[in-house]
Amino acid sequence: MTIAPERTTTTAPPTEAPAGAPGPAIGRAVDRVDGLAKATGTARFSAEYPIPGLTHAVLVHAPIARGRITALDTTVAEAHPGVVLVLTHHNAPRLTPPPARMNPMDLSTMAAGSTIPFLNTDEVHVDGQPVAAVVAETLEAAQYAASLVRVEYLEVTPTGDFDAELGNSTPVRSMPVMPPTGGKRGDARAAYGRSPVQVDLAFSTPQHNHNALEPHATTAEWDGDRLTVYEGCQNIDWTQKYLAKRFGIPAGDVHVVAKFVGGAFGGKSKVWAATLIACMAAKVAQRPVRLALTREGVYRTVGGRTPTRQRVAIGASASGHMEALIHEVTSRKGRVGGEADQVVACSLDLYDAAAILAEQRIVELDLMPNTAMRAPGEAQGSFAVESAVDELAVVLGLDPVDLRLRNQPGERSPVHGTRYSHRRLAQTLERGRDLFGWADRPAPGTRDGKDLVGWGVAAAIHPSWEFIANVQLTVDATGGVTLACAFHEMGMGTATVVGQMVADCLDVPLERVTAVYGDSDLPMGPGAGGSGQTASLAASVERACRAMRKRLDSLADRVGMPDGSDPGEVLSRAGEGSLTVEVGADSGPRATWGQVRFLSKMVLDSRRWMKAATGAHFCEVRVDADTGELRVTRWTSVFDVGRVVNPKTTHSQLRGGIVMGLGLAMGEETLIDTRSARIMNPSLAEYHVPVHADVPHLDIHTLDDPDPQMPLGILGAGEVGIVGVGAAVANAVRHATGRRVTDLPLTLDRIVG
Ligand code: MOS
Repeated sequence: MTIAPERTTTTAPPTEAPAGAPGPAIGRAVDRVDGLAKATGTARFSAEYPIPGLTHAVLVHAPIARGRITALDTTVAEAHPGVVLVLTHHNAPRLTPPPARMNPMDLSTMAAGSTIPFLNTDEVHVDGQPVAAVVAETLEAAQYAASLVRVEYLEVTPTGDFDAELGNSTPVRSMPVMPPTGGKRGDARAAYGRSPVQVDLAFSTPQHNHNALEPHATTAEWDGDRLTVYEGCQNIDWTQKYLAKRFGIPAGDVHVVAKFVGGAFGGKSKVWAATLIACMAAKVAQRPVRLALTREGVYRTVGGRTPTRQRVAIGASASGHMEALIHEVTSRKGRVGGEADQVVACSLDLYDAAAILAEQRIVELDLMPNTAMRAPGEAQGSFAVESAVDELAVVLGLDPVDLRLRNQPGERSPVHGTRYSHRRLAQTLERGRDLFGWADRPAPGTRDGKDLVGWGVAAAIHPSWEFIANVQLTVDATGGVTLACAFHEMGMGTATVVGQMVADCLDVPLERVTAVYGDSDLPMGPGAGGSGQTASLAASVERACRAMRKRLDSLADRVGMPDGSDPGEVLSRAGEGSLTVEVGADSGPRATWGQVRFLSKMVLDSRRWMKAATGAHFCEVRVDADTGELRVTRWTSVFDVGRVVNPKTTHSQLRGGIVMGLGLAMGEETLIDTRSARIMNPSLAEYHVPVHADVPHLDIHTLDDPDPQMPLGILGAGEVGIVGVGAAVANAVRHATGRRVTDLPLTLDRIVG
């Protein structure tokens, strides 16, 4: 990609507390508590724990996508100096087979990345499947010896061509408590046929793969039948339960440490092959094993974002009221795992079309199962629906912001009929329009030198989630406050934000509060997924602080101090060393009951309320009129993410989502050789993510309007940022060039066409 002509220095977000914040800490742009440790390199990631006697493992990947191992010779590799062990399906421990599918009632099934029984089978199901692992005293010895493992295969022709399989797709049914993969209001096909104005477009989005800054890495160590695994993951609880189930040991005997995670974006919410193999290898070698994937290893063994083929048809009146909105999607999963992303979900709640039809189908291919990747479904689906809405505006000769405002739903979700907990999408559009200076939008096809200049807009929506969080809150006589919970710090600032919430809910200075996290020995935390971690923590933090304050006040009464006194002073006056309060659904024997209660609450809640973060993106692009070279030169987004606990970390999350969206818009594409079902570009050299030069100054604004139905009013900010970005860029390209590009990424060949 190219260098943007103008660069603006990022301005610091506001530091003063916004109106309506419950206390002095919430709403402040507090620096990250882990910032110094990360900047100075003292923060330990999962491949960085110094463990005595550590060995290093390297995977041997199958070069075929489907077939069977017919011969395996490890003798040369085993004889290589420094090699401790070559693990194959001949000598690997037999594990309990992986579950066939996810079952929300059994959390040990939730982290299954695939149904392949790795190293417990001679069958190959995907290209790159690990068929052996070499364990050696040094990484170099393991790497070299891995090249000495000889494997022969009987190859079967794989099914790797998504487009060729579209005819074999099957319908996807919406799952309870999961985001909807379909929906219906009225007879949309008939309404579309009757509509005086019609837009009907076909879209495609490619597969994407995960490229977190920290590639997946595991350090595994056994002490008898107890396993410790240092693993950068997004769900300590699921990981612990899954490993326990596979290795046939109690969950309490699996210790998961995930103190720091170098980005995850959905790619670390499951347990993939390398994690299991590191644990197997450590068991057989009776030595600690580290298995750090190469960048290519991540592409070969971790799922990515499903490609999509989509159709969006919108019927409207001449005045721009939507009579029909049809969104049809086909995505793919693996024959050996994966799920349907909620690609049509955004079409159910962006517009109040009189009739709506959203349907998804899915095909199975001999490829790595797909997995969650930042706004899984909404990121792809919003490209299609928000492009089609823009095209409708062009056809009607209406301003695309006005068209969107004209079709906003009222108090209820058009398809589900549930009430919006609060809805501020229109305000984000209006505020963004003003901030961007939309009134000065140039005429279509405006030329500036050799560039065509265009402005685009798109809306964003992402559902809000709340999960179980057990927390333990302790105050001591020195005034120190500790909040302990096995939550996840993947770079988004959770550890900082949790401290802010505790400070205000307990009414103590922020400096007194420490958050302890990232370890399965702590009370069970929420997963860091679905943009729900902060809200989930907020609910339990509030409860714990209320309970703690009650106990402190009764203690204060006893020693003749007023209610609300400083916790440290109350404790020292009362002669108590410390006070601890625990809240949550528990992860011990009561965990199943807690899960039942939690799921029923989620079901009931989802029948009552539609809760979502929303936003609006405005951008300017320049397209070289001769070459089609595309540059994004200006960007403003306004979001409603409910209450903003920390503008610095929240805006960073939203900014990161937009940067990832620019990758989706302009560069990211996993190329599959459809004959061999093999990824052809498993490296950052050939898979293009945005670099600094591709990203203009991103002007981010939040309404900071607490949602009345979410804990502390928090809607979540991790994912809504990427939603709509692809369409905003494509719509600006349409405005600049007159070309409606419906296939991502927006490469110059597609723009010049
Ligand atoms: Mo996410 S895709 O919920 O990390």
